[in-house]
Amino acid sequence: MSTKKIAIDGPAGAGKSTVAKAVARTMGFVYIDTGAMYRAIGLGAVRRGIDASDAKAVEKILDELTVTMKHGPQGQMIFLNGEDVSEAIRMPEISVAASLVAVIPAVRLKLVELQRTLAEETDVIMDGRDIGTYVLPNAQLKVFLTASPEARARRRYDELREKGVQTTFEEVYQDMLFRDKNDSSRAFAPLRPAEDSVLVDSTEWTLQETIDQITDMVRQMTGDLPERS
Ligand code: CDP
Ligand code: CDP
Repeated sequence: MSTKKIAIDGPAGAGKSTVAKAVARTMGFVYIDTGAMYRAIGLGAVRRGIDASDAKAVEKILDELTVTMKHGPQGQMIFLNGEDVSEAIRMPEISVAASLVAVIPAVRLKLVELQRTLAEETDVIMDGRDIGTYVLPNAQLKVFLTASPEARARRRYDELREKGVQTTFEEVYQDMLFRDKNDSSRAFAPLRPAEDSVLVDSTEWTLQETIDQITDMVRQMTGDLPERS
């Protein structure tokens, strides 16, 4: 039997992973964070002292980098060569390294293969930049989740401060603008809405409103509609 697939794409800080995690929990899908995979490769490059924008240098070490994922009660864990890097990949400098290695076709092909394999095994809700357009073109539901750059930077800044990461709003905002541009302008599988995606702008919405809206779309898709009194 073929598995159910939901694609959530959009720019950084739009709420993709938080919403996808919540929907996965309620609707019994496995959540797959593809951004974490690009972050793991970015981390691997940074740790080896390699410039993440140097495609040749990154390609040279690509075979040495093995990315795996595990799904447990605490959610998704990501491993780089067997080491749990779930926390290490969240540092701001790794966001930029991830966006730089994500331009390299060899990196994308390696990770897309892993993503498609995971989506064959079970019902998935997968978030990223190119899920609806490239990774899972046959996904039954495609959402393009966005919000204004200011709202997205504010959300990410609050999140980092809560974790105790030293940064400024301006730094987070500039990092986001850089990634938006870099992710949208690359030649291979850029960030853009799939033609058959539903556009959701969460700028003025609370997190719960966004979760409810997308959960409703998933219920429509699966036919699992709540009873109305
Ligand atoms: O995965 P993505 O980068 O798109 O965003 P995220 O990591 O899910 O969300 C970034 C932060 O924004 C999280 O702390 C969310 O709780 C928050 N958020 C929010 O405050 N309001 C929303 N409507 C959506 C997300
Ligand atoms: O959490 P946030 O939205 O900040 O970023 P992420 O989803 O963790 O992704 C980190 C970077 O990986 C992005 O800026 C993209 O450059 C890249 N990425 C991608 O190119 N394709 C994907 N399917 C997912 C992420």
